[in-house]
Amino acid sequence: MEFKNLVLKVENGIALLTINRPDKLNALNIETIEELSHCLHGINHHADIKALIITGAGEKAFVAGADISEFADFGMDQGRKLSADGHVKLFDRIEAMSKPVIAAINGFALGGGLELAMAAHIRIASDNAKLGLPEVSLGVIPGYGGTQRLPQLVGKGRAAEMIFTAQMIAAADAEKFGLVNKVVSQADLLNVCIELAGKIAKNSPAAIKHAIVSLNAGFKDGVNGYHVEIDEFGKCFLSEDFKEGTTAFMEKRKPSFTGK
Ligand code: COA
Repeated sequence: MEFKNLVLKVENGIALLTINRPDKLNALNIETIEELSHCLHGINHHADIKALIITGAGEKAFVAGADISEFADFGMDQGRKLSADGHVKLFDRIEAMSKPVIAAINGFALGGGLELAMAAHIRIASDNAKLGLPEVSLGVIPGYGGTQRLPQLVGKGRAAEMIFTAQMIAAADAEKFGLVNKVVSQADLLNVCIELAGKIAKNSPAAIKHAIVSLNAGFKDGVNGYHVEIDEFGKCFLSEDFKEGTTAFMEKRKPSFTGK
């Protein structure tokens, strides 16, 4: 796959997707959102890819937000459409990926950048990372899921403080609040994410897919997550991975999963 604003590398079943607009601090313009959407669709259907890491190019920014220059003169309907399209094409798509998505936050994660990281299943940050939702300082609110996913991760009070003050928080505070799982040095960031992805990749891709559906269900309005868990648990019994995993355990050998 060839992209203008993305670089995709796949090694040992782990995809590393780099958002590559460093001179704009990797800000998400429409073109980049379209490319990401397309790329994620491809990765989701690629049987050999077991986990995905998303990061930003350069040492300064993960993603410094949606591209402000593109919406500065928008009216209400265009603003609404910008948000709705973003949800469907990118942010909901990341959350619903059937492979685990790890955000490797290598610097500023602001606005749409933090929203992208929050749509991922796991976040690891470098110690120079700064995270925030500065939208109200521009006269808008977070429109790519920030008002929903931030309170899920840090609680309503802390989310309200971050959104209303528009201030960035340091990586160490993000870890303390549960916004990121771990903070490491920038030099170690990708290796730590690759190591984590490697641990995931040893397990059954089929089971992980069902686990993602079940995890996400708990955060959906009108959906009973326990009922979804029962259904997804049941579906696991149809998979070759289940047969392989249980057989390998009884034969005292390592399983060899196909994801089927
Ligand atoms: N949209 C569009 N362009 C952006 C951008 C964004 N969200 N964030 C950064 N850029 C561009 C800058 O305009 C600048 O481009 P230029 O060199 O052509 O002028 C380039 O990226 C570098 O940014 P700059 O502001 O010069 O870097 P800095 O180190 O002084 O400041 C930030 C870094 C992150 C504090 C600052 O860029 C910033 O506040 N960005 C906007 C963050 C934001 O509000 N995001 C939410 C959007 S809804």
